[in-house]
Amino acid sequence: MAGLIPEDILEDILSRVDIVEVISGYIPLKRAGRNLKACCPFHHEKTPSFMVSPDRQIYHCFGCGESGNAFKFLMRFERMEFPEAVEALGKKTGVILPRVDTYENKATGITTQLYKINELAADFYSNNLDSGEAGLKAKDYLLKRGMTQETISALKLGFASDKWDSLINYLRSKSISLNILEKAGLIINKEGGGYYDRFRNRIIFPIFEIKGRVLGFGARVLDESLPKYINSPETNVYTKGKNLYGLNLARDAIRDNDFVAVVEGYLDFILPFQEGLKSIVASLGTALTVEQARLLKRYTHNVVMVYDADSAGELAALRSLDIFIEEEIDVKVVSLPKGFDPDSFVRKNGIDSFKERIEKAQSLFDYKLGILKTRYNMKEIESKAKVSTLMLETINKFKNAVLKSEYIKKLAQELGLNEEALLEEIKKVKTNKPYQDTNVSLERKPLNINPTEKLLMSLMLEENSLINRIKESIEPADFEDERISKIVSIMFGLLEEGKEVRPHLLMHHLGDDISQVVCESVFMPQSLSLEHKERVVDDCVMRLKSKKVKSRREKLHQEIKAAQNLGDEEKLSRLLEEFHCLIKKKW
Ligand code: CTP
Ligand code: MN
Repeated sequence: MAGLIPEDILEDILSRVDIVEVISGYIPLKRAGRNLKACCPFHHEKTPSFMVSPDRQIYHCFGCGESGNAFKFLMRFERMEFPEAVEALGKKTGVILPRVDTYENKATGITTQLYKINELAADFYSNNLDSGEAGLKAKDYLLKRGMTQETISALKLGFASDKWDSLINYLRSKSISLNILEKAGLIINKEGGGYYDRFRNRIIFPIFEIKGRVLGFGARVLDESLPKYINSPETNVYTKGKNLYGLNLARDAIRDNDFVAVVEGYLDFILPFQEGLKSIVASLGTALTVEQARLLKRYTHNVVMVYDADSAGELAALRSLDIFIEEEIDVKVVSLPKGFDPDSFVRKNGIDSFKERIEKAQSLFDYKLGILKTRYNMKEIESKAKVSTLMLETINKFKNAVLKSEYIKKLAQELGLNEEALLEEIKKVKTNKPYQDTNVSLERKPLNINPTEKLLMSLMLEENSLINRIKESIEPADFEDERISKIVSIMFGLLEEGKEVRPHLLMHHLGDDISQVVCESVFMPQSLSLEHKERVVDDCVMRLKSKKVKSRREKLHQEIKAAQNLGDEEKLSRLLEEFHCLIKKKW
């Protein structure tokens, strides 16, 4: 897993970094005895099952099973590649890394290469805005739409010319292969062979991730032709609905203001942001996804959705807001007057007027009920019942029972209905299948580790001197659990090399599933004296051995019976001898 980075460097970084400091930079940790705990940032939960061990420099979630060392945390939380996580922590700890890769280095991970190529493409498109007649025309389009040069630079907006191969030629001149360009989604394979640029004669909007790396692109025509936008396809680094446009620029403001406005389009982000509303992101036309909601939740629990008048009434869009309730995010809604989107509204009425609208945003409850009331004839009993069902679907998403019952009370008042009846009806509301997060499996696969083996392993990790003691009496293969057997053999090997065996250092020798086993065992409560631990070890070793003998005995027993049946005298006597030997042993 470690790849090109020398192991001693990794160990050097890990021995200097404090995992508690790293993780508490992202989520608040509370003391819990020797360890620290928090609600898991990788799955949804209300009671903390995410544990961090300062002694062992490991985290582990007993809810979803996610676990690892400081590198792994950054990889999962910041979606970094391994080399990036190493680089980040190297910087933090002052450990100097040997220079390894450029994007052309074959050994570099595909994602790292794609980020680099996207960056080169973004630079190329951005430079186009300042050269040639077409480029200047594109620049003029942006300026006419109210963008300043500063904004254009900050967002690295660009232009793709109408030529079929200008990006191809540029990147080929940098010796970048067509194959990787296709993987980046920047070029398209022609039917008869050859390639052409995906984006032509369009304004280019690079889409950045939180740390400013380019994930992909959106591209708008300069006139009324269709399609209005072309977007990057899904690639190894870009997945639709998992990012929010502008979050890299807005993140600090969102955190500071503890609030975010969510709009739909590129331009709807750009104009308000430029004019001074810094806590804003764009969902890029998709209905909001659970991943996007969770991304926001890292920075604030207060979201205001801003809709154009035309999309405001869509029930599908409304329904997607229930995600926020499920994620326990407070969501409010603003809809703009007919014919306006945030971009045109701010240009016409100014940013203060826009901010005012946002301040007056309605709760999801009021907003949804308002829309339903315009759609249904509230004088009819059947319509009222339908509206109450639709409202109860949303109310049912509240996890907090107090909120749920207060909203039911409110709904009864608003519709002039009996509260008891609504309480009866909410029981019938289908709980839609939970929104799936493709990244995290919420259901935890039990690790099923034999307790004796687990205990032995955790004692070895705690006290390296015990590894020698165990090594004298058993072999890795004596462990029934293949994962533990692998871990133990690595531990033995490290010890032989005179290296320290600590859980966070073991990690990079192990795959994910196996390191999970290590992490979980780290949190077994133990505060025994060394002498006591030695006795426990001896006892465990004994138990493992006797178990092994017992199963060998059972196997022999079967074999003896078989040999008897077959009348194979020679085999029988050999087996019987072994059997007697085994029985003579004390265990
Ligand atoms: N969108 C898209 N593909 C389309 C149309 C729209 O991906 N064919 C996405 C874009 O992210 C776009 C957003 O949906 O920004 C909103 O679409 P729309 O309101 O039509 O465009 P605007 O962003 O408002 O662009 P403009 O103001 O320039 O018309
Ligand atoms: Mn628009």
